[in-house]
Amino acid sequence: MKKKRIKLKTEVYYYLAIIIILIIGASWGIKKYQQYQYQKTNEYKLTEAGYSLENSQMLIKELTDQDISYILAKPMDDNILNLMKEKYFLKENFQEYYEYHLANKKVALTDVVAIINCHIDNEYYSLDLKTDMTKNYAILVNKYYQMPQDYIPEDLVSVKMDYAWGEYGSIKVRQIVMDKFLDMWNAAQAEGIYLMISSAFRSYAEQEIVYNNYKENQGEAYANKIAAKPGYSEHQTGLAIDIFSKTNTNRNTFQDSDAAKWLVNNAYKYGFILRYPADKVNLTGYNYESWHYRYVGEEIAAYIQKNQITFDEYYAYFLNK
Ligand code: DAL
Ligand code: ZN
Repeated sequence: MKKKRIKLKTEVYYYLAIIIILIIGASWGIKKYQQYQYQKTNEYKLTEAGYSLENSQMLIKELTDQDISYILAKPMDDNILNLMKEKYFLKENFQEYYEYHLANKKVALTDVVAIINCHIDNEYYSLDLKTDMTKNYAILVNKYYQMPQDYIPEDLVSVKMDYAWGEYGSIKVRQIVMDKFLDMWNAAQAEGIYLMISSAFRSYAEQEIVYNNYKENQGEAYANKIAAKPGYSEHQTGLAIDIFSKTNTNRNTFQDSDAAKWLVNNAYKYGFILRYPADKVNLTGYNYESWHYRYVGEEIAAYIQKNQITFDEYYAYFLNK
């Protein structure tokens, strides 16, 4: 009887041991399998490539699988992470930024982002991008975005000769530009500054004349720095105005006038921006034009004034959807 109980006890221990071994074996197997599966993940591959776990998770969250494969095919580089911290970084441009950076290592990453966002890595006039006319006051026209040749704004109004040179009817702007310009004119006048418009809406045909004149007289290279080809001028939008003052109409010296300084500091309050600033020639493709103002509305103008970016950069980041 006693012997039988001992035998039973031994058998229980025996089976228990087998069960324990099986459990240990199974959990080891599961662990190994999980490890094997984890090694196939991007998180594992990125950490193995030298990125921290936190950065790897951020890259996976922000970028596509295709971008991750692209990153994994290159040596680990902190500039990949630095690029992503840039204020105007656009995910869809990631590989373009990085390729540009690799080919132009001396260019600051902030500039790399701006250059790619604004298409400056392409020859001027080489892209066939169409201006999205539904953006109304925020339409983008530059050396890449072209307007329809026959576009003429429906709400053009003539500027009174109190505020513009030439014959009445020769200077026209969109209604909103007229209204906002008058508000601005009054504010400037209260400070003894008399703003005057020298040029505003120009049709495709009129822009063609302007451009060809420069080209014939000063050569194509110079013309391209100061005038847009027809179809690519903001003047065709009816939203751009060339502003001088009653006492200064000289393109070479206007920038130093009280009127120019007043405009730089105040135009944004009325929805106007200095469109071609001196320090952004590389992004606008035009020489500094201290007189060329563009209506974009108060909200956009305030942002651009505060952050000192071009409308091209603003558009790429906030409006190109
Ligand atoms: N002067 C500006 C760039 C234009 O021609 O539209
Ligand atoms: Zn102009």
